[in-house]
Parts: sequence; C-alpha cells; structure tokens
Amino acid sequence: MSTVDSGVWAAPGRVNLIGEHTDYCDGFVLPFALPHRTEVIAARLDRPEWIVSSSLTGETVTFDLSEPVTGWAAYVAGIVWALRDAGYDVPGARLDISSGVPGGAGLSSSAALECAVLSALVDLGGLDLPVAQRPKLAQRAENAYVGVPCGIMDQSASTLCRAGHALFLDCRSMAVEQIPLDLVGHGLEILVIDSRAPHQLVDGEYAARRAACEKAAEILNLPALRDATLADLSRLDDPLLIRRARHVVTENDRVLATIELLRDGRIREIGPLLTASHASMRDDFEITVPEVDTAVEAAIAAGAYGARMTGGGFGGCVLALVDTDRSDDVAAAVAEAFRANGFTSPSFFSATPAPGATRLS
Ligand code: GLA
Repeated sequence: MSTVDSGVWAAPGRVNLIGEHTDYCDGFVLPFALPHRTEVIAARLDRPEWIVSSSLTGETVTFDLSEPVTGWAAYVAGIVWALRDAGYDVPGARLDISSGVPGGAGLSSSAALECAVLSALVDLGGLDLPVAQRPKLAQRAENAYVGVPCGIMDQSASTLCRAGHALFLDCRSMAVEQIPLDLVGHGLEILVIDSRAPHQLVDGEYAARRAACEKAAEILNLPALRDATLADLSRLDDPLLIRRARHVVTENDRVLATIELLRDGRIREIGPLLTASHASMRDDFEITVPEVDTAVEAAIAAGAYGARMTGGGFGGCVLALVDTDRSDDVAAAVAEAFRANGFTSPSFFSATPAPGATRLS
C-alpha cells in the first residue's frame, strides 16, 4: 500500500430509517448517511505524535498515547490505539477537524469523527485495512478506549453507505445490501426534526438496555435476541425483560418488512412500520422523551406517512416520511406543538442518502 503525505478526508453522520437497539443483539439495521459530515485535514508527521485541533472547540490536543486522552480527542486517540492494538504501524499526524454533524442530536457525530480520522490515518500510513473491516475497528475504539458500549451500526453507516441508498446490515454476519431509496423520484422527503431535548442519563440508560437484552438472551439460552421469537418470550418471567426483548424481536421483523416494501418501490407503505417502531421504543424499550413523542404525534397528525425517533434515544432526532409538498406544513405543525408544550423550538432539515467515508483531496 502506498502512503500519502497529506490530504482531506470526510465521513458522514447518519439517520437510521429503522432498526433501533438491534445492532448489539446481532440483528438488522437500515441507516443511511447524511450529507452532514466531519472533515479532517491531515498531514503525516515523522514521529509517533498526534496533534489534533478542533474548529468546534478551538482547542489543540497533542498526545503520544503514553497517557490516557479524555474529552473529544479520546475519539481520535481511540482510533490510533485500536489501529496499534490490531498491529498496524500508525503514522504520527497533524489532524485539523471540523464538523457539520450536529453533536448530541443522535446523528452519530462520534462515528463521523472516528471514521474520518480512521480513513485519514489508513491512507497516510498506507495501512492494509480493507474498508469492510473498518467499522469493527472504529467500534472497538469507542467501546474499549472511549468506554461507550455502542453497537456496530453507526461506524458501519459512516463507512459503508452509498449515495441514494440505505444500508441493510446484518449485524451478525456483517452482510451488507445497498437498498435504493429514491425519495425525490417518489415525491417524498425524510424530514428530520431535531427535538433539541437535553440528553440526560444517556450513557447509563443505553448500557442498561444493552445489559437487559443480553440477560434476556442468556435466560432464553440463545446466543442473542436476534435468535428469539415472540413465542420464546413466554419463557421470561420478568415483565421488564419481556418488554425489552419484545422490542428487539418486533423491531427486527419491522426492518425485514421495511426492506421487502422498499425492494418493491413501495416507499410510502413503510410509514406504519416507522410509527410502530416508535411506539415500541416508547412503550417497550422506554427510551423516548416527551419532546420526541410530541414530534411524532404532531408529524403524523399533519399528514406524515410515519415517524419515529432515530438513534440511541432519550432525546435527539425524529424522522418523518412526508410528501415533499407537505414538508413545510408538517414542520410548522411540529413547531406549533412544541410551542404549545413549552418545549425549546425544534430545528428541521431534509435528509437525502449521501455517501460514506471518502478522501476528498
Ligand atoms: C447508538 C449506538 C448504536 C445503536 C443505536 C441504537 O447510536 O451507537 O450502536 O445501538 O444507538 O439503535
């Protein structure tokens, strides 16, 4: 592999069309990449040192991994660490980072940062790390170095997505199918509503959901909840574990049903599956907050085909499938519902499926 001295790399954030909290259960997800991305201007250094600056915070952090790195730079240090740990000779580098992915909105700004840095370091060092293996390495950086027990969806989306497609990923086999998602051609839009609800207790609650799913699988004597059926749930006693497991089992089914409809070009018909996914996250997985529930209800009342919270939960964004010519009305109705409830004003954008991580120059 040949090395390069410098360049610019980018990796996107994502929304997840459907398949929430299924990735760490070996299940199915269907994200697509956003046009919003994190960019890294990178140059190789001739010593094992990383000088990382962020246009967001205005800070510059220098590290050589002899001491733990914390804060936002931990996501960068985690990538260096994970590459080294996998046996790669990682080049030192200067990395100047800027990002158009809103942070704390459940749009995978962390994965965008990890995957942009990973792409840069792989090319700077001429490292032999096939694209298909990069999501796992970036996930390991986040799990083992940063300490966030995330699944594989976000890093996969940021790396593997293609423009105009959603990424159908089997999180057990890592088999990928690019599903065409021609929203514009169907007169449709995915309206993303940032609820701007403050994320609270996110890390602990995420870890608790993951632990509950693992516990349920263990009691059922299955490798993961991916292998459970609704009938299996009668073998669980704890009502909380039943609810958590029921979300995962039904959500995996909804992903597969969504794929079938999309393969047939019946995009509007996925609406009820999106809304059912939201109800399952609200009632069984208990990861929604009043702001996102309000956004979903108002969007549907204003004519959306379906709507759901996207991402890990406890705030963040809702996506609504709408006719393009209804989009403004749906946004206005959601904004009005937020006003009526005394919530902070939401923000909106239309999401079109964009490409995954890439070298820009
Ligand atoms: C976060 C995690 C993902 C996934 C989602 C929920 O985004 O990083 O791995 O578990 O939550 O679907």
